Amino acid sequence: MLGSLSSKIHDEERQGEAYQPGVAGKKEFRKKFYIESYGCQMNFSDSEIVASILNENGFGATANYTEADLVLLNTCSIREKAEQTVRNRLHIFRQVKVSRPGMLIGVLGCMAERLKEKFLEEEKLVDLVVGPDAYRTLPGLVEEAESGQKAVNVLLSRDETYADISPVRLDSNGVTAFVSIMRGCNNMCSFCVVPFTRGRERSRDAGSIVRECIDLFERGYREVTLLGQNVDSYYWMDETAGQVVTFALLLEKVALIDPLLRVRFSTSHPKDITDEVLLTMQRYENICRYIHLPVQSGSTRILQLMNRTYTREWYRAKVDRILSVLPDCGLSTDIITGFCTETEEDHQDTMSLMQYARYDMSYMFFYSERPGTLAARRYADDVPEEVKKRRLDEVVRLQNRLSLEKNKEDVGKTFVVLIEGDSKKSAADWRGRSTQNKVIVFPKTGSTRQKGDYVPVKIEDCTGATLLGRIVE
Ligand code: SAH
Ligand code: SF4
Ligand code: F3S
Repeated sequence: MLGSLSSKIHDEERQGEAYQPGVAGKKEFRKKFYIESYGCQMNFSDSEIVASILNENGFGATANYTEADLVLLNTCSIREKAEQTVRNRLHIFRQVKVSRPGMLIGVLGCMAERLKEKFLEEEKLVDLVVGPDAYRTLPGLVEEAESGQKAVNVLLSRDETYADISPVRLDSNGVTAFVSIMRGCNNMCSFCVVPFTRGRERSRDAGSIVRECIDLFERGYREVTLLGQNVDSYYWMDETAGQVVTFALLLEKVALIDPLLRVRFSTSHPKDITDEVLLTMQRYENICRYIHLPVQSGSTRILQLMNRTYTREWYRAKVDRILSVLPDCGLSTDIITGFCTETEEDHQDTMSLMQYARYDMSYMFFYSERPGTLAARRYADDVPEEVKKRRLDEVVRLQNRLSLEKNKEDVGKTFVVLIEGDSKKSAADWRGRSTQNKVIVFPKTGSTRQKGDYVPVKIEDCTGATLLGRIVE
């Protein structure tokens, strides 16, 4: 069965999550905005910056779009289906606008640049279009749109990182938070639209990152995930200290805030994750033993067409190196099936590499051609859809088996779990994660523990997605 266990098929992106007005509801606001986010964590993180900018400008949050003055969709372009979902939502919002003509509808994020004309002029679906580097201009654009003008800003920037904006934590559990450390991407993977939608890579001021993490810790947060499309190429010249801050050094600075603050990061490109990073992880117990290392394909020929710049052998050696430095490290990956010219043999190479790496979890997709990318220009999208989907199905089934096998190996072991909140199924159980990023569910009974506490939990049973255990005092 597809996607029944821990492995997720991400041909469905995270689907339009609206947030609950928490902090944002406290001030007096003139107007209400509603925001729905799609795609990767970077986009969800950007919505928190947008919320902060709007709060400063008199807009308070609402979780109900029918009462909003401003309805925003923070969009994703990564696969065709992601774009289709957004279009469907826009048509629903249009309907609401019929009875509330003053309401403004805006598109933010990765679809902005590609579809601005279509959305604004051809289809008249939206009132404003704002790209990922232009959120500071949002209040002005809203005013323009209010006066009936077409409000667009999709300019990409070489230096915008929103470093000074303190994000309004939307939909937060109060324990774990995402902190953006860089924007854009300079890797030209041939299938990928991100370098076009988000522009050139740039790193955020290290001092502002560390300050944001300290602030989160002081407010009771116990885990931060440092975010970027390619975190290992983080680079910041700290002029005052006369020091270059690499990703390894940044990790160390954040780890040193407090041993009780867990540090995670995402995403690492296999070509860029250095020994220095692995050795830093080894030195600090609070840097989590978990690496998301997207492989995309197990065939060297396909990897070359994808412009990933590593071979199958090189990737295997990277996995070996990770596990020799960090023997208990959890590993996950991204896989694309049915990329241009992929043969059955290439597909088998992917399957065998998955078995070699024994991933704990994978995000798996079938190839979706994106206009303007290198692959769209150079190669024919020649693997029939049913073949792409059959291969995806095989990859998913293999991953489900691997996840279950790996979870079974954890039965009998004890893990330190950071409690994130109630289990989804029952308020009598806690839910949290191990350093390896595995979800662990266990009964609250007889314990005075709270959300945000660390507890040792002994694993007694598992599914492919979850470990089930009991607190051992
Ligand atoms: N920066 C990250 C990936 C961001 S996109 C990295 O380099 O790993 C997340 C994932 O979406 C990619 O890893 C890839 O597996 C998938 N993806 C990207 N473009 C795609 C496309 N055109 N079709 C199908 N999947 C795609
Ligand atoms: Fe896309 Fe490759 Fe950049 Fe990831 S590293 S965002 S897959 S171009
Ligand atoms: Fe989608 Fe843009 Fe992220 S295309 S995956 S929201 S960077």
